[in-house]
Amino acid sequence: MSGDAYDGVETVEKAVVTGAAGFIGSHLVEVLRRGGTDVVGIDRKASWATADIPASAGLGALRAINADLASADLSACLENAATVFHLAALPGVRPSWTQFPEYLHCNVLATQRLMDACVRAGVPRVVMASSSSVYGGAEGTMSEDDLPRPLSPYGVTKLAAERLALAYAARRDAALSVNALRFFTVYGPGQRPDMFIGRVIRATLENRPIEIYGDGTQIRDFVHVSDIVRALLLAAAAPGKGSGVVNIGTGRAASVNEVLVLTGELTGRTPDARYGPAHIGDVRATTADVGRARNRLGFTARTELRAGLATQIEWARHSLARTPPHETASSAGMAPTHRG
Ligand code: NAD
Ligand code: UGA
Repeated sequence: MSGDAYDGVETVEKAVVTGAAGFIGSHLVEVLRRGGTDVVGIDRKASWATADIPASAGLGALRAINADLASADLSACLENAATVFHLAALPGVRPSWTQFPEYLHCNVLATQRLMDACVRAGVPRVVMASSSSVYGGAEGTMSEDDLPRPLSPYGVTKLAAERLALAYAARRDAALSVNALRFFTVYGPGQRPDMFIGRVIRATLENRPIEIYGDGTQIRDFVHVSDIVRALLLAAAAPGKGSGVVNIGTGRAASVNEVLVLTGELTGRTPDARYGPAHIGDVRATTADVGRARNRLGFTARTELRAGLATQIEWARHSLARTPPHETASSAGMAPTHRG
């Protein structure tokens, strides 16, 4: 693996990445290929390339498969895979009140179909994306031993997906391990357009107002995408066959208002924040207990929020320079749904 962020992380032999065209998936695919790993990337997004890229100059090959996990025959894709990284899902918290059938399809049915195919294909290891949203509200840090009490339909589907995968791993006839990584709020270059940090940065760079859902005192454990990719690679290389859930966060949290201040300092422009009602199902606070990630995976987040925000601001400046203004306005993402 080259590059400081991934020093000390072992190379995976052959990997399958679901959700390969997404925010986190596209970073993972790039880092795996840079480490010489051959990747089969699966995504249902229309823009996901279907042309294969052969291995070259130290870069692993990419086979890009455009398919819906919930209905495709996955057996050929999974042949000889050392690790399946399962990132595909419908990810936003707020639209899950109104689009539940889609959430069930992408998060629950797709996971069940994939796990069934993994057992049949003899895949030894699955590393999957779970979410801090399985916890629901919490006073202090969120620990893997806490009883999950999701407050949104999205959180319920992520909990179901996690439990489904672990049920498959526990089957007597299955020789696979499952690590379900509960990511906290992920940011960095390429972040989904419905998410807060990307919206604040774009709005500030374009001198547009940004709507804050609530009073901005809600806090999140914001974790940079390079740390998430490192955690995924560490989980794939973790010794032993054990299965379980592991939080992936920084152990520190910042409020939405603190992000506004930092964005102002880093861009030299004051964000124009307009405060509105909070969304139903939006948790007040998330902070990861990071003990298990450190002990089981040797993982500690390395990117501080200020430095991480700077990487996303730089990326946003470049992408705005390439995109006509009318396209950025429409890329504001999913429409707000239920408000408190
Ligand atoms: P994303 O939407 O950018 O990527 C998900 C990808 O999965 C998309 O490209 C989508 O087309 C694909 N996909 C969805 N359903 C599919 C299906 N049925 N078949 C094939 N492809 C399908 O989301 P992301 O932010 O990169 O999130 C990746 C994973 O991490 C998700 O599982 C999400 O729940 C989880 N997660 C994300 C965050 C975060 O802050 N971004 C935090 C916690 C957990
Ligand atoms: C994020 C991801 O979107 C989920 O996929 C993921 O599962 C979840 O993290 C997680 O940690 O598990 P969320 O924390 O809601 O969910 O992330 P953002 O969309 O970045 O929102 C952060 C906060 O900013 C929320 O309180 C939200 O209400 C607020 N926000 C968001 C605004 O005030 N304005 C906006 O325009 C967008």
